[in-house]
Amino acid sequence: MEFTENLSSNRKSAEERAAVLADPGFGDFFTDHTVVVDWSAGSEAGTGQWHDARVEPYGPIAMDPAASVLHYGQEIFEGLKAYRHEDGSVWTFRPHANAARLNKSAARLALPQLDEDVFVDSLRKIVATDIDWVPTGDGEALYLRPFMIATEAFLGVRAAREVSYRVIASPAGNYFGGELKPVGIWVSKNYARAGRGGTGSAKCGGNYAASLVAQLEAEENGCKQVLFLDSFNDNAVEELGGMNVFFVTKDGSLVTPALTGTILEGVTRSSVIQLAKDRGMNVEERKITLDEWRDSVASGDITEVFACGTAAVITPIGVLKNGEELIGDENAPAGEVTMSIREELLGIQRGTVEDRHGWLERL
Ligand code: COI
Repeated sequence: MEFTENLSSNRKSAEERAAVLADPGFGDFFTDHTVVVDWSAGSEAGTGQWHDARVEPYGPIAMDPAASVLHYGQEIFEGLKAYRHEDGSVWTFRPHANAARLNKSAARLALPQLDEDVFVDSLRKIVATDIDWVPTGDGEALYLRPFMIATEAFLGVRAAREVSYRVIASPAGNYFGGELKPVGIWVSKNYARAGRGGTGSAKCGGNYAASLVAQLEAEENGCKQVLFLDSFNDNAVEELGGMNVFFVTKDGSLVTPALTGTILEGVTRSSVIQLAKDRGMNVEERKITLDEWRDSVASGDITEVFACGTAAVITPIGVLKNGEELIGDENAPAGEVTMSIREELLGIQRGTVEDRHGWLERL
């Protein structure tokens, strides 16, 4: 697809950009441009077309107040990163996996399918346009946020006939801020994230909106993230507010909740599983309950717990707070297996470890 270009006459200066890149944090700063492709439904089902692919200056979106995304939340998104290698080249990680997941989310949210090549081209376009924004620091990258919104102005509840796909980019360091260290997690007892037949496996804004009250509760209790249990009341571990969860066991296995349709199919999650299998580790995707977590930490059968996601990379979990109960140790150092898988994954992404699976794509 050809993208037309309307470049910003108001780009940040080299000094302003350098100030941001010196300490990018997560999600607070944005590059100078955005990529947009619009979609309109055809007169017959299945004849909708993507059109007007373009690069625009980054800025507010003019939208009709009746646009259905504002009322019914018909929206999906993705998250992936662009990494700068030592020779200056810029790469991304498994973009076709994100493209495929975007289309699964689109199908669930009654949004149109986007050709995988258009998705990857849109990443190439924003990175090429804002290449100077790709950080060079250790553990830093340019976070890419593709998203799709229903822009048609109407108040009836039905799938929109006008949609917009966009990509914005934000230089990113550690998601949790500062140096990497084990985080505390709060168990949500009052709120579930997803139900049977719901949108739990889709990457849609509504899932994250529904997690926010529990995330607030977590923060009030001194925790960085919230853990959701399944909504069928048997206390099976699902995922955190914005990331998947893994356990390392004494016998060297890796355990993670199985994909049941209510859990996000993380690209980092599947990469971690592959890297662990490459090391000869036994990987179990299965149900793990809060009781098993508690008992196995107490008996020493679970030795490490970590969270993973594009934004979080791999972040060690120190303690799980279940009301007054503490499971794990707030002050425990990051686990060895956790850190070693993290280093390997980051190494592949940064081009310092062999990319055995062909996961990198040059932008
Ligand atoms: C990601 O890891 O890319 C996410 O989407 C998690 C969060 C920032 C929403």
